[in-house]
Amino acid sequence: MCGIVGYLGHREALPLLMEGLKRLEYRGYDSAGVAIRHGAGFEVCREVGKVASLESKLGQDPSRYRGTEGIAHTRWATHGVPAERNAHPHADDKSGIQLVHNGIIENYQSLKKALESKGHVFRSETDTEVLSMLVGELYEGDLEAAVQAALRGVTGAYAIAVMCAKEPGVMVVARKGSPLMVGLGNDEFVVASDPSAIVAHTTQAFSLDDFTVCRLSREGYRTSSLNNVPVTPKVMELEMKLEEIELGAFPHFMLKEIFEQPDALRNTLSGRIDLKRGDVVLGGLQSSGPDLVKARRIVLTGQGTAWHAALVTEYMIEDFARIPCEVQYAAEFRYRNPIVEEGTVFVAISQSGETADTLAALEEAKERGALTLGMVNVVGSTISRVTDAGVYLRVGPEIGVASTKAFIGQVAVGALMAIYAGRRRHLSIDRTRSLLEELESIPDKIRQVTSQSGSIRDLVARYVDRENWLFLGRGYNYPVALEGALKVKEISYIHAEGMPAAEMKHGPIALIHEGMPCVFVAPKGSQHDKVIGNMQEVRARGGRVIAIATEGDEEIIPHADEIIRVPEVSEALSPLVTTVALQLMAYHAAVLRGHDVDKPRNLAKSVTVE
Ligand code: AGP
Ligand code: GLU
Repeated sequence: MCGIVGYLGHREALPLLMEGLKRLEYRGYDSAGVAIRHGAGFEVCREVGKVASLESKLGQDPSRYRGTEGIAHTRWATHGVPAERNAHPHADDKSGIQLVHNGIIENYQSLKKALESKGHVFRSETDTEVLSMLVGELYEGDLEAAVQAALRGVTGAYAIAVMCAKEPGVMVVARKGSPLMVGLGNDEFVVASDPSAIVAHTTQAFSLDDFTVCRLSREGYRTSSLNNVPVTPKVMELEMKLEEIELGAFPHFMLKEIFEQPDALRNTLSGRIDLKRGDVVLGGLQSSGPDLVKARRIVLTGQGTAWHAALVTEYMIEDFARIPCEVQYAAEFRYRNPIVEEGTVFVAISQSGETADTLAALEEAKERGALTLGMVNVVGSTISRVTDAGVYLRVGPEIGVASTKAFIGQVAVGALMAIYAGRRRHLSIDRTRSLLEELESIPDKIRQVTSQSGSIRDLVARYVDRENWLFLGRGYNYPVALEGALKVKEISYIHAEGMPAAEMKHGPIALIHEGMPCVFVAPKGSQHDKVIGNMQEVRARGGRVIAIATEGDEEIIPHADEIIRVPEVSEALSPLVTTVALQLMAYHAAVLRGHDVDKPRNLAKSVTVE
């Protein structure tokens, strides 16, 4: 959430910073700002609203913002309403500091009181301004030392970029908990919250580790701890390609990413299926694979869509590997004094690899002795580096705030892990081979669903005015129902609730009213007749049944008002196909309701605060 971009080099900073902000805007966007070193000081421009509002404000007098050093920020407010005065960068009132920040300074109130007692006057309600004032207060001619000293007195999460009017040609960046990368260009540095704002300029970059400070200057860079102990960062080759983060012919990133799913899934599976040996190859599990196989219990955790993928994975692990498995919301796990006994394997699922609650739960499990594995999309992200081992999703950058291809990647990696463990426990080579062969056929089956986008749109148009929807499913279809409800909620703002279909008669059936859309995820499977019974219960009360059903399933026809057909897939792998129909339903509902699909209100792509 929120986006930081910094530039120090030989080119005009402003155009590069603004382009970077636009690539990061999906991370959080209620206000934005920029500071460019100009003459003996800085030219600062801040504006409430999206990056476009800042751009038009800058356009009123562009010549003011010339310079080759600058920092910029898109904000997702945590302390202080979205307003120009609370937008970043924040200055101090003593040493000519300009600072941008992603995260939360938890002890900002006590720091603020101490600074006020020294005569500092604050102009915003933010925690960030306190950090800027603290750096300014501690500045004695060395910006790097002032930042180190300030951060030694801070608790909370931060990614920051700082400049000082008294130190031209120097920028200091630091992080703890919120992501920050340093791109190493030709005689220039590009700093950003994630690679999408760096990859246009260089593919050589490193992620800062927690409690690390990096001083950038015309002479080079130096990375150290908060106590000024030198640290050597691990420079990596950024794999992201520019075209992957461009919109192309699609109207929205979300639709692009839904249609990318067949190729994304092929990437997830490539090199990991050995049909000849009837086995799964997971290089990332080399050392810890045996521990996974002999685990006494597996705990899966995540938030939102990742939590839904965990629910599907739970069913597959118990189905294929017969290992006791449970799913926990990360935010719940971290505060419940969890039991982590000998033989527990803890799996953190996260697209961004930066979700604060998931990271905290992971650190809690690690602290209590669990083997920790990751199922993460962003290479080099914090969760991927904290876990003992893991399997990258490899679905490519996901820009749309509503997660789509990452869910497919998470479920596919969950299946691979479950089959990997099952093959070393109870799964026969034949059953393994047939599961893997079916997995390889899924990309084409997803395409058969995306090809129905137009008819799904027409169907949704008949219900898009309804303010309350239900999503229902049994077994593997229950997590899919939850995911469908979340998609609809977060981009169309319709109140949608997902639940096990059997649960309806224990209360929620009271909600059913004339014309209420009730979406049943009902492909052929072990509970098909039961779910038809639930459909009848809905129709008997005037509800409208929208069924996601298997091609050729005639039995369902008399019980559904609308049917979206999906190709036949075995029960365990059906979420990889049925979910796509629900993603398209949500997408079209949001577009028909005129919402900003890629940047829905109140949301951010990566929730890096609690
Ligand atoms: C999904 O559509 C949501 N945007 C959100 O629930 C997301 O899945 C959740 O915040 C977890 O994010 P992560 O996968 O990056 O950890
Ligand atoms: N806590 C800071 C603020 O509210 C930063 C929020 C963010 O990460 O954008 O301004």
